[in-house]
Amino acid sequence: MKVATVILAAGFGSRMKSSLPKVMHPVAGRPMVEWAVRTAEQIGERTPVVVVGHGKEHVQALLGERVQYVEQAQLLGTGHAVMQAATALRGQSEAVVVFYADMPLMQADTFHRLVSLFSDYRQSNDVALAMLTIQRDDSQGFGRVVRDAQGQVQAIVEEVDCTPEQRLIRELNPGIYCFDSAWLWSNLVHIPVSAKGEYYLTDMVGVAVAQGRRVVTALAPIDDVHGINTRIHLAHAEALMRQRIAERHMLNGVTIMDPHTTYIDDSVEIGSDTTILPGCLLQGATKVGNHAVIGPHSQLVDSIVGDHCRVAYSVIEQARLDDHADIGPFGRLRPGAHLGIGVHMGSFGEVKNSYLGAGVKMGHFSYIGDAQVGENAMIAAGTITCNFDGVQKNQTIIGKDAFIGSDTLLVAPVVIGEGAKTGAGSVVTHDVAPNALVYGVPAKPHGLTASPASPQESSEV
Ligand code: UD1
Ligand code: MG
Repeated sequence: MKVATVILAAGFGSRMKSSLPKVMHPVAGRPMVEWAVRTAEQIGERTPVVVVGHGKEHVQALLGERVQYVEQAQLLGTGHAVMQAATALRGQSEAVVVFYADMPLMQADTFHRLVSLFSDYRQSNDVALAMLTIQRDDSQGFGRVVRDAQGQVQAIVEEVDCTPEQRLIRELNPGIYCFDSAWLWSNLVHIPVSAKGEYYLTDMVGVAVAQGRRVVTALAPIDDVHGINTRIHLAHAEALMRQRIAERHMLNGVTIMDPHTTYIDDSVEIGSDTTILPGCLLQGATKVGNHAVIGPHSQLVDSIVGDHCRVAYSVIEQARLDDHADIGPFGRLRPGAHLGIGVHMGSFGEVKNSYLGAGVKMGHFSYIGDAQVGENAMIAAGTITCNFDGVQKNQTIIGKDAFIGSDTLLVAPVVIGEGAKTGAGSVVTHDVAPNALVYGVPAKPHGLTASPASPQESSEV
């Protein structure tokens, strides 16, 4: 049986009170509509159709060519939204699965159950649609499923339209339907206009029943079905999704000491025997290797962390740590920072757009920007690359095994040769030859200065 999918994403989402369209709000790092598309891609054979309207430019910028768009120019309700897909989909499939983009927790398995339920009944020819329902005390504003004495579904009634008795019904409509395609496209026109002037997709149930056609249902798992209409719902869905993601990593061999204070985006990869301590956010395209320890209280955004790395109380964005590197407590890596194998970065260091070669040590409150640092160089406390001259950024190159004394200012562009040393408090304005020693303000090579005092070298590292 060929199945087409239609995702409704055109609504205002006015209850979110947001300038961002509701379906663009992220849940565990992915906008809701992207969650919906990922699920649709697993159930239908053809490209999902997304109905866009309010904020369509945001949705289209996110999804690009991945889906087929149809536009709902006037937002006249969920039934009206589906009508917009008729031209694109009529005659294209035997079944049409329709669902709303504000349900990011829905899993493909649940959809597969719905589709096979419809497929089982399809032969009998009197079934117009299959739908999921849930039994839940908290209605979350969902429509009620009204059945007759024989238990046959008669109608879905929106919460605002319910009689006091109907309000007590605990069987709710999550809004996930599998329609007989031919029936759907020829009967959408029969949806009556509501008191609000809208066309409710839910009224297709009444249309079917009036024609003597049946509506069959299956119960959905309660945790799949959280419609997001307000930011309270959003926080709730976020917590459930985060729990799901944390459990996936734990089953893959990651220790998460406190899942409730650990925030891992769905896109993140983590190797086995890595430990995540409390208070961490792992976001975007972040990848962490095996046997690493992350946290406590660290944020990793779009960053790569190798095996056996250690990150404590640090903020790392678009940066990379090779195996055995460590940072923190209180380190910051900005975009383009790359710590080579075994680099040690202690407290209050910041690195931006720079490579620190294998074995570099930078123990205390230094800033390295736009620099290349050779392997095993020592960056003592308080070193600063003065990379910005007020007009442009300039490069600093530090050779391997160099020793940059405490409180050295490296005024870029500048090259420190291999094995060279700078004395404490030096302001280095000129290139330093390999193995030379410079100190002073401005720094001069040893022997060229009047001062015989030997430079004070690094503090403890
Ligand atoms: C809808 C259902 C309700 C169900 C609930 C489950 C209807 C009439 N009601 O109510 O029975 O219990 O979902 O979450 O269907 N949209 C459009 N165009 C429109 C209006 C909405 O594309 O003109 C889209 C929205 O972007 C959203 C989805 O349809 O993704 C659902 O709209 P929403 O306003 O959230 O409907 P609910 O009030 O939640
Ligand atoms: Mg909704």
